[in-house]
Amino acid sequence: MLTPTADLVDPAAKAGRGVGAFNVIQLEHAEALVAGAEAAGAPVVLQISENAVRYHGALEPLGLATLAVARASSAPVAVHLDHATDVDLVHEAVRLGFGSVMYDASTMSYEDNVAATAAVVAHCRERGVWVEAELGEVGGKDGVHAPGVRTDPDEAKAYVEATGVAALAVAVGTSHAMLTRDAAVDLELIGRLHEAVPVPLVLHGSSGVPDDDLRRAVAAGMTKINIATQLNKAFTAAARAFLAENPQVVDTRKYLGAGRDAVADEVARLLRVLA
Ligand code: G3H
Ligand code: ZN
Repeated sequence: MLTPTADLVDPAAKAGRGVGAFNVIQLEHAEALVAGAEAAGAPVVLQISENAVRYHGALEPLGLATLAVARASSAPVAVHLDHATDVDLVHEAVRLGFGSVMYDASTMSYEDNVAATAAVVAHCRERGVWVEAELGEVGGKDGVHAPGVRTDPDEAKAYVEATGVAALAVAVGTSHAMLTRDAAVDLELIGRLHEAVPVPLVLHGSSGVPDDDLRRAVAAGMTKINIATQLNKAFTAAARAFLAENPQVVDTRKYLGAGRDAVADEVARLLRVLA
């Protein structure tokens, strides 16, 4: 069932559990994510990034399909806009019925980030929509592995007070789009951020984090765990293997279905790691 993001993430933060947040690029991702959540008996966040919107040319087709998949699920499912820099896109997601948005002003100066994010929070709060923001840029979105960036706990506390965000993405050693799971997560810093910041923390670039460190990150105070690349690896490996074994196949459902099944299995496995 479609569930407000706050209703998934806030209780998990209080209970010290992680919530898996996975990216939807094709419809098959959304179908696989809810299948994985149902198999694991866990809630899940389905998120569509601004990059995915650019790929499709619009939010509405994939956004409405993802909302429909969420509504039809027996698991609690939230739908979230990920890494939005375009305020018009944020407003559109709110209009379509998304439960939350990530407004990403992390490349701006601190002052500009606060002002822009506070304005987004004001718009969303009136409409009951939960806002995640980022402080301390998690690198890697442009293919550059930048694990050295760190969020300062005092600045994070001040930022949450100044903006009113409901959740905060922080830089703690991860980097986007890692193909190997060997990121060195700064668990001590997660603990200090958790003490300092009164809202749930979000880990981006979690594909690079090995299972045991995902567990440790949650135990140290991380709540929303964003994973995309790890699922694309599973999807593509399964589709590639299927096509290699069945070179005569032309029906796209055959190899996309193999990818979808692989993603569902990996999501169920990851949700059990985070529970
Ligand atoms: O916002 C989405 C995530 O941070 C996913 O990052 O592709 O490195 O897992 P990832
Ligand atoms: Zn991210």
